[in-house]
Amino acid sequence: MSVYILGIESSCDDTGAAIMLDGKILSNVTASQENHAAYGGIVPEVASREHQLHITRVVDKALKEAGIDIQQVNAIAVTQGPGLLGSLLVGVSFAKSVAMALNIPILAIDHMKAHVLAHFIDDPCPKFPFLCLTVSGGHTQIVKVDSPLQMEILGKTIDDAAGEAFDKTGKILGLPYPAGPQIDKLAHLGKAVFSFAEPNIQGLDFSFSGLKTSILYFLQKEMKINPNFITTNLNDICASVQKSIIDILMSKLIKASAQSGIKEIAIAGGVSANKGLRSQLEKTGRELGWNTYIPHISYCTDNAAMIAMAGYFDFQNENFAGLDIAAKARF
Ligand code: KG4
Ligand code: ZN
Repeated sequence: MSVYILGIESSCDDTGAAIMLDGKILSNVTASQENHAAYGGIVPEVASREHQLHITRVVDKALKEAGIDIQQVNAIAVTQGPGLLGSLLVGVSFAKSVAMALNIPILAIDHMKAHVLAHFIDDPCPKFPFLCLTVSGGHTQIVKVDSPLQMEILGKTIDDAAGEAFDKTGKILGLPYPAGPQIDKLAHLGKAVFSFAEPNIQGLDFSFSGLKTSILYFLQKEMKINPNFITTNLNDICASVQKSIIDILMSKLIKASAQSGIKEIAIAGGVSANKGLRSQLEKTGRELGWNTYIPHISYCTDNAAMIAMAGYFDFQNENFAGLDIAAKARF
């Protein structure tokens, strides 16, 4: 029997819907919210209201692009968490209503695991066990993936996430939110000539808050000498910030591979869209004999295709949720 899965994503500021047929994506629609930039960050109440406005239209568009009617959907996969509670509630409530109306099962998806499982949307897929550096706006993790349903977090950030490091530094530099993609673009026009304090964290955990402070103090010092320091050196500052973040990420990934003996290495999450990180992973991979896996750009930042993919694995394993599931800000 062919299985159509409707995936729904609403954990942060992107409303997503995707249709998957037997593990293949037929459509993947995302409505991004632009009205947070004026506040320099995501306003949770604004985000949940925007999800309410977009969700029906986004689902309709995904169905239309896939060329199917909602009656043909066999199961609905929805992000249960982690994320902003008000935002998650919109997707979860919508999914429950559809599941109830069509009398189809619901699949409760962990957003972070879905970022990892995005690697199974397209070939080549990583072979188990593999390591995945999952880097987003709220999380930074090194995950050992034994199977689609079995993952172990080997290391994580003890303070800011990598995406936050990009976004908060961007704010100091006067760049609009989210600053990650902007820093990425400007970094390619500059040189990493400035260096900042490196974190000294044991094991496979990460820390980014010290880097942010080090950048802030460096800029304050330079601005005292030259008030135009940021504007005249913006590209080089971006290149330096990006290099520092990538160096922190890569050093722990290299350590995790050496400790576990695993050479199948993937990256996932919004920050995996970063061109510098993507090319550094490939370079390090060639040097250390890794097989590296980098998701297509459209599956790096938040999307519903990855939610449908995670749902497909749950469906195959009959890992169904009940209509009593609750959105969870944290797991
Ligand atoms: O995975 P994601 O879309 O949402 C969360 O689950 O958080 O990640 C969003 C994060 C933001 O911090 C954004 O600045 C960062 O990913 N990001 C990037 C790039 N594209 C998105 N960071 C660096 N370079 C990029 N090209
Ligand atoms: Zn995400």
